[in-house]
Amino acid sequence: MRSLINILDLSTEEIDRLLNVADDIILNPKKYSEVCRGKKLATLFFEPSTRTRLSFEAAMYELGGNVLGFSEAQSSSASKGESVADTTRVVSCYADIIAMRHPKEGAPLVASMHSTVPVINAGDGGHNHPTQTLADLLTIRRNKGSLDNFTIGFCGDLKFGRTVHSLITALARQKGIKIYLISPDELKLPSYIKKDVMKKNAIEYVQTTDLESALPELDVLYMTRVQKERFFSEEEYIRLRDSYILTADKLKNAKEDLCILHPLPRVNEISTDVDSDPRAHYFDQVLCGKYIRMALIMELLGIHLDEGGKE
Ligand code: CP
Repeated sequence: MRSLINILDLSTEEIDRLLNVADDIILNPKKYSEVCRGKKLATLFFEPSTRTRLSFEAAMYELGGNVLGFSEAQSSSASKGESVADTTRVVSCYADIIAMRHPKEGAPLVASMHSTVPVINAGDGGHNHPTQTLADLLTIRRNKGSLDNFTIGFCGDLKFGRTVHSLITALARQKGIKIYLISPDELKLPSYIKKDVMKKNAIEYVQTTDLESALPELDVLYMTRVQKERFFSEEEYIRLRDSYILTADKLKNAKEDLCILHPLPRVNEISTDVDSDPRAHYFDQVLCGKYIRMALIMELLGIHLDEGGKE
């Protein structure tokens, strides 16, 4: 029984295989439409979500399975004081696989230690978001043809941005990756990631506060939202929230084949006049999220199809 808590729980070879399965699902959805018949996914969301929860649910339905769960802590017995460990033990009796989002870092790991079915981390506080990373990697590979040899800029909230932390961790294992870290001083990437992930893997990086001077160098731009829910002070949030706003005008100096990503939701950091630019791929990224979660559910349930589509 295997869980996905951190992107490093998957080897680069396993990630490649998952991306290949997702590519095949995109081409041949019918082949996969019954493979989870009789299986149940539980979505335990203690924190708000649109994409992650609904894409997990859509993924399970498109595999022929069923879904149960809750979308807020208040509607579960967590509101009566039940622990994550007990909730997971109980839900293991009802479902074959669990996707959990929690505001506390490490909660899905605790869940995986008490579960009798696989647990997927669907985002834990400001820590990790491995399935968003799989969606990001699929979008990049479908766009660039490879996960090696490109320059990527991460812009916005790099301190609390769990999607940034997980994607940097994944890319640190690839070849020829150069990273621009673009943020206000207050929202810089945590030093443990610079030391334990980037320096350890000899990843070349530049740290700057200036998006416009970095833009012409980038093959991929990963914009992020300044997350109100992670701030202790409203005043500090208001001061930092509009630090970066990508507009169509600013993109004039960017590469013609730049790939613009954002895990979403966005607030102001990408102007809607960018949406019609062919370099904007953040809505493709949403669709990739559903297909890669289909591939992941199959993998963790031990469902593998041969070339002819048979189990
Ligand atoms: N990208 C992402 O995690 O979006 P949601 O918060 O809507 O799930």
